[in-house]
Amino acid sequence: MDAGPAASSKIKIDPMFVVGGLNRRLFGSFVEHLGRCVYTGIYEPDHPTADSHGFRSDVAELITELGPTIVRYPGGNFVSAYDWRDGIGPKQDRPVRYDLAWNVKETNQVGTDEFLQWSARLGLEPMMAVNLGTAGVREAVELLQYVNAEPGLALSDERGRNGQVEPYDVRVWCLGNEMDGPWQIGFKTPEEYGRLAEETGRAMKRFDRDLELVACGSSGRGMPTFGSWERIVLERCFDHVEHISAHAYYEPTDGDEQSFLASAEDMDRFISSVVATADHVAATRKSDKKITISFDEWNVWFAERNADHEPGTEAEEIYDVSEAVVVGSLLIELIRHTDRVAVACQAQLVNLLAPILTRPGGPAWRQTIFHPFALTSRHAAPVVLAEAGDGPVINTARYGAVDQLHSVTTHDPDTGAVVIFAVNRSIDTPLGFEVDLGGFAVEQWQLVEHLVITDQDPHARNTETEPDRVRPVAGNARLADGRLIADLPAISWHCIRLAPA
Ligand code: AHR
Repeated sequence: MDAGPAASSKIKIDPMFVVGGLNRRLFGSFVEHLGRCVYTGIYEPDHPTADSHGFRSDVAELITELGPTIVRYPGGNFVSAYDWRDGIGPKQDRPVRYDLAWNVKETNQVGTDEFLQWSARLGLEPMMAVNLGTAGVREAVELLQYVNAEPGLALSDERGRNGQVEPYDVRVWCLGNEMDGPWQIGFKTPEEYGRLAEETGRAMKRFDRDLELVACGSSGRGMPTFGSWERIVLERCFDHVEHISAHAYYEPTDGDEQSFLASAEDMDRFISSVVATADHVAATRKSDKKITISFDEWNVWFAERNADHEPGTEAEEIYDVSEAVVVGSLLIELIRHTDRVAVACQAQLVNLLAPILTRPGGPAWRQTIFHPFALTSRHAAPVVLAEAGDGPVINTARYGAVDQLHSVTTHDPDTGAVVIFAVNRSIDTPLGFEVDLGGFAVEQWQLVEHLVITDQDPHARNTETEPDRVRPVAGNARLADGRLIADLPAISWHCIRLAPA
């Protein structure tokens, strides 16, 4: 007989312990002109499922199921040498350019109008980035007018001639991308970038003071300038931006799977440091403004594993179960920070570091990481609750002792529904899970669903021939004496839904 897990984590939840409203822009994604994300990813005019605009309908259906809310475009590193004018107007007249970021040819068959119209058809909120690498204030305000101005200006009328009379009304704009990174075309010091972001932000806000602008933060917590970059940049552009970006990619460095499973710990420390730095800058200015974080690139990226891949396919990750559990855990962490993370974009949407894979001319399928994203986006309830709890810790080489349980609870005050997302971060030890529901004035609960991502083989993957090898399965949560109880196998992600009976 299975004796069950040796140790348990217990949490107490209460509808009064509110962190904040769930920010649905946390379920964002990212489409970059990189590898096969755009071409043969979302766009493939010769594909049997292509719509009249050349976009794949099979991919669109999977994106709808995945449930992203906001999508960043067109890069990424790509944007830092991109001339947006190359991607508008009649397709046959668009220039083929050399893409300096990724060392490939860019045909410009997809550009601003195609992306924005595609997003609108799918009900996605677009989020645009402007080029602050090879371009500057002028290009940014011209793109802004092309995209958002009412008819009657030269640029908005040009948009009208290109088939889009109504403004797109894009609200969130990134002021460049990863400008702290030496790999970035037009890489800058924080002083140089802060000044350019200040000038660009000021000019864009002249056009529309209600825009939400994102200053580039660090492209990783390990960057040598991390911390001072954010401070110096915000000291310059504080008045003109609402958000500062953060980017993080995680992998099991040196085979350290246990630290990898605890990657959310790094994300937590990253967010806390950026919030502290932004609040420090606010304090020096005697300002009550709360700069929020746009975590506009995050994911698992096992760069080491792909080092020998063909150029252009290095980031075509084929994700396994343990990586899906980490993705679920990173989403938990973002939700826990709903009060200070305003936007988060999983990088990316299709083929490159992506939940969806496609074969040119062939099928599209769900990767393992598709499932925690889709279930979290679909089921997370509108209010995020803080949890009080206790349980075993695990020792990690990279982060020291961390809680074995990683979880977040969301609540719907209108329906009374409670949705808990939980991860057992141990690579080898099962965990019992107990939730004290006593804080809710609910006489009787019903368990709506308990879904789990786990597998005997933590490296199992989905492939074109076995696209459903890994998918959510039923867990064993049950209710007893005002408590929820469940067993969490090692390396597992869970979505548990409860409702008043
Ligand atoms: O998402 C892939 C790349 O990673 C992006 O282009 C860049 O911003 C980051 O370094």
